[in-house]
Amino acid sequence: MSGLKEDAAEVGQGSGREFLVVDGLHAGYGDVRVLHGVGLSVGRGEICAILGPNGAGKTTLLRALCGMVRGRGTVQLDGTSLSGRSPDSVARLGVAHVPEGRGTFMPLSVEENLRLGAFARRDRAAVQDDLDRVYGYFPVLKDRLKQAAGSLSGGEQQMLAIGRALMLRPRLLLLDEPSLGLAPLVTRELFSIVQSINQEERTTVVVVEQNAHLALGIAGQAHVLETGRIVLSGSAADIRADEQVAQSYLGYRI
Ligand SMILES: Nc1ncnc2c1ncn2[C@@H]1O[C@H](COP(=O)(O)OP(=O)(O)O)[C@@H](O)[C@H]1O
Ligand SMILES: [Mg+2]
Repeated sequence: MSGLKEDAAEVGQGSGREFLVVDGLHAGYGDVRVLHGVGLSVGRGEICAILGPNGAGKTTLLRALCGMVRGRGTVQLDGTSLSGRSPDSVARLGVAHVPEGRGTFMPLSVEENLRLGAFARRDRAAVQDDLDRVYGYFPVLKDRLKQAAGSLSGGEQQMLAIGRALMLRPRLLLLDEPSLGLAPLVTRELFSIVQSINQEERTTVVVVEQNAHLALGIAGQAHVLETGRIVLSGSAADIRADEQVAQSYLGYRI
């Protein structure tokens, strides 16, 4: 029997997925309500994929998790409530957000962008070690240290954005459409690096992606969001295996 669950209320209960727990999350912009009671949980060290059509509320979900958008409901990270905290406070708890469109500071150099990523850190002495760690994952950044971020290719800018997030030594990495606008080869390389980061640092990852095939390829669990509600949850393998279900929810073949 397939492990897919179409009732979001069942998801995560007794599953041992308790590192990030989101329950009854409502969020939006002013009068515009976008999320209508989202619930999901992610285990420590897991990669969780959030899929769904344009406008479903995927970006809003990540923004609500990192404090950029105020919501109602509960969000807990390792037992600590994130509800009502500012983005800065959420970052200090180890949540790094790589926004849609990357959010790199174009006129600043690669190195300056990376150092900014360590803003929430107190252990300044370790920052150089972390720069070296980031260059390990993204050697191309080391060759471009003094170059303005704006002069990098799209793929390099995405690497910089993820590199900057790593400078926080995050416990939870939120990635919003990392493949957007990138060539397939570059996207595959990026996803493979995200997988290495997850495996080597045990960083928990929530990745929002249009490219379901790639996201399901590295994720353990996945959730499909549709008009602000989770309509399908299950293991990435089950979702991948059930072509019909995936096609009916996502509108395309995986
Ligand atoms: N800043 C905003 N102000 C008002 N409405 C917004 C804003 N950002 C997004 N929305 C609306 O919220 C809905 C969900 O958007 P979004 O979270 O960006 O979806 P997705 O990332 O899944 O494409 C859309 O209807 C969008 O128009
Ligand atoms: Mg989006």
